Amino acid sequence: MTNPLQRDVFLSGEGDAWFQRNRRNQPLADTAEDPLLPLLLELPLEAGSGTSVVEVGCGQGLRLQSLANQRDWAISGVDPSAQAVAAAEQLGVDARVGTADSLPYSDRSVDLLVFGFCLYLCDRDHLFQIAAEAHRVLKPESWLAILDFWSPYQRSNPYHHKIGILSFKSNLPAMFLWHPEYVITDHKLRHHTPPYCHTDSADDWVAATVIRRSAISPL
Ligand SMILES: C[S@@+](CC[C@H](N)C(=O)[O-])C[C@H]1O[C@@H](n2cnc3c(N)ncnc32)[C@H](O)[C@@H]1O
Repeated sequence: MTNPLQRDVFLSGEGDAWFQRNRRNQPLADTAEDPLLPLLLELPLEAGSGTSVVEVGCGQGLRLQSLANQRDWAISGVDPSAQAVAAAEQLGVDARVGTADSLPYSDRSVDLLVFGFCLYLCDRDHLFQIAAEAHRVLKPESWLAILDFWSPYQRSNPYHHKIGILSFKSNLPAMFLWHPEYVITDHKLRHHTPPYCHTDSADDWVAATVIRRSAISPL
């Protein structure tokens, strides 16, 4: 018997279970907690609701809430957990039930797409589809950000909370960097747990990576 897709396990209850285990009352505001937020806030994106920002794997929407408190962009999130999506909506964040391999946004509509620590849970067979979805929804001149485990080679651990699920560590930005329109502009690596400084323990690295998608210019 083949294992069910991890995507379907998260859609059918593990997303809600993750939310129930990790729900919190405070917005993510602290750089030590969130290495990605300061990088997103320094991006040269135009002010106003014409700038569209999406977080995939947004959970209860705390990163999006912090962004919305500081920028007047049009902000939206996607997560397989219906309960997390309901909690995000209570914070005033537009959120939708969905997964990274099928994004509920139209072609060329997003200025900044964030993978918010969700790709480590995604089925490896879906990574090409996930990259294609990101490419489909991003505007030709736009930004992509990935917060996740980072390892130069692929590793997997059993996911602690459910038998049969794996947690992956790999070089996720490489999903995009082979493509001539994508170039890395920032890559911050640190240890996963407090005090969050760098260690040489590659099995515990987390990276916040920012990637620019640029239109192809004539020679
Ligand atoms: C570690 S949490 C991150 C939550 C939040 N973005 C943050 O950084 O605090 C992982 C999230 O990924 C979601 N997730 C799991 N599988 C997913 C998939 N295939 N596509 C999108 N999100 C997924 C989970 O439901 C969970 O909310």
